[in-house]
Amino acid sequence: MSQSPSLKHKIVVTRNLGPDVMPILEGRTEIDLVVWPEDRACDREWLLRNATGAAALVIMVSDKIDAEVLDAAGPGLRAVSTMSVGYEHVDVQELAKRSIALGYTPDVLTEAVADVCIMLALMAGRNAKQTSALVNEGNWPQFSWAPFLFCGPQLSAPSPSRQRTAGFIGFGRIAKATLARLVPFGFTRCVYGANPHSTRQGSNDDSDKELADRLGLTSVRRVDLDTVASESDVVFVLAPGGPSTYHVVNEEFLRKMKKMGVLVNASRGTLVDSDALAKVLKEGGIWAAGLDVVEGEPNIPADHPLVREPRCVILPHIGSATNETWVDMASLAANNALAAALGEPMPCALRCLPQPATSQVTDGTEVSRDRTIFGIGSIFAFRKPLKYQSGLLNSARERRLRISDCTGSQQPSHTNGPVHRVEGFMYTGGK
Ligand code: DGY
Repeated sequence: MSQSPSLKHKIVVTRNLGPDVMPILEGRTEIDLVVWPEDRACDREWLLRNATGAAALVIMVSDKIDAEVLDAAGPGLRAVSTMSVGYEHVDVQELAKRSIALGYTPDVLTEAVADVCIMLALMAGRNAKQTSALVNEGNWPQFSWAPFLFCGPQLSAPSPSRQRTAGFIGFGRIAKATLARLVPFGFTRCVYGANPHSTRQGSNDDSDKELADRLGLTSVRRVDLDTVASESDVVFVLAPGGPSTYHVVNEEFLRKMKKMGVLVNASRGTLVDSDALAKVLKEGGIWAAGLDVVEGEPNIPADHPLVREPRCVILPHIGSATNETWVDMASLAANNALAAALGEPMPCALRCLPQPATSQVTDGTEVSRDRTIFGIGSIFAFRKPLKYQSGLLNSARERRLRISDCTGSQQPSHTNGPVHRVEGFMYTGGK
């Protein structure tokens, strides 16, 4: 017996997810499926018009989800499901206010992005941009083989005496998968940093030691960002985007890197100051950069200062772009939306959303602004009787983040109970 369309749960999908994935949503009698019909990014006007009455939206990183879209969808919207692990394009504060869940796709892309991190480190270090360009442009005949022609620093340790250190800004799943790939290259040390203002240093952390032992590394140390810059042969930027990590790699950071150092960014373009990077590359302050993301993408013209740098390899945000991973991401995004529309638990949603108490944290507290990720330099503050307060604090403790009491001027004016400050990166959702 067919249901009348009005009783169906509407799911709007802003890009066809392909033949392997669309059947998850197609042909379900309980679902009214609306799919952007074209093979290009969805027009905002189409989304605003079609979102009306939706129970769930399946969106891409190219779709900006803000109050306007949520208003257009109306009060029946239960979830926004993004086919990405990052969600800077979603106004999570607005979702929190309205108790709308956010589905996302962590884990399934970890290995693909870690692969690209290694690829970028190799391509950047070994002059892949410059050298493949000269072949493509027919200029190879002018460059007969010569000692030291096109040499760059070797990623792998050429001998045990030449140690290699990997540095990370952000030390989540993708960073750890990247680190594991560097072990066969002879990397023996790892330094990672989360918060440029944190004074916490050292390797006393049991989980660091456990990781070092498991991977056979001499050390894994949480350090300040200056140390990440100065000690690393390659710095991998793998932290969430957003205001709290904006331009964390700036000229000062780059100037502290080794002259033969390589910078890799496979997270979000906003973490790296493009002008500063172009300047430091041009002046030889670091050897090279490999970027999968650039601030302002995809509007990166051929005369962009980084595109013009011969030792800056740029890929158009393809970190997770393997057939296997994109099927997994799209399936997870579809299943997240389907579950939300049917009122079932979503396979992968940020646990903090929606919470009965979320409205209490939206009036200026940082939990909303930072979308429950504690970013660099951010303060996480919350009022006392939030239901999940102890859960979040426990998570912060488990992750050995620095937790202190806010006192005096640190105490946010809108709070009246004990307020804690937590520094470092922390996902409250995901696995
Ligand atoms: C993600 O999932 O966030 C990747 O950057 C791909 O968009």
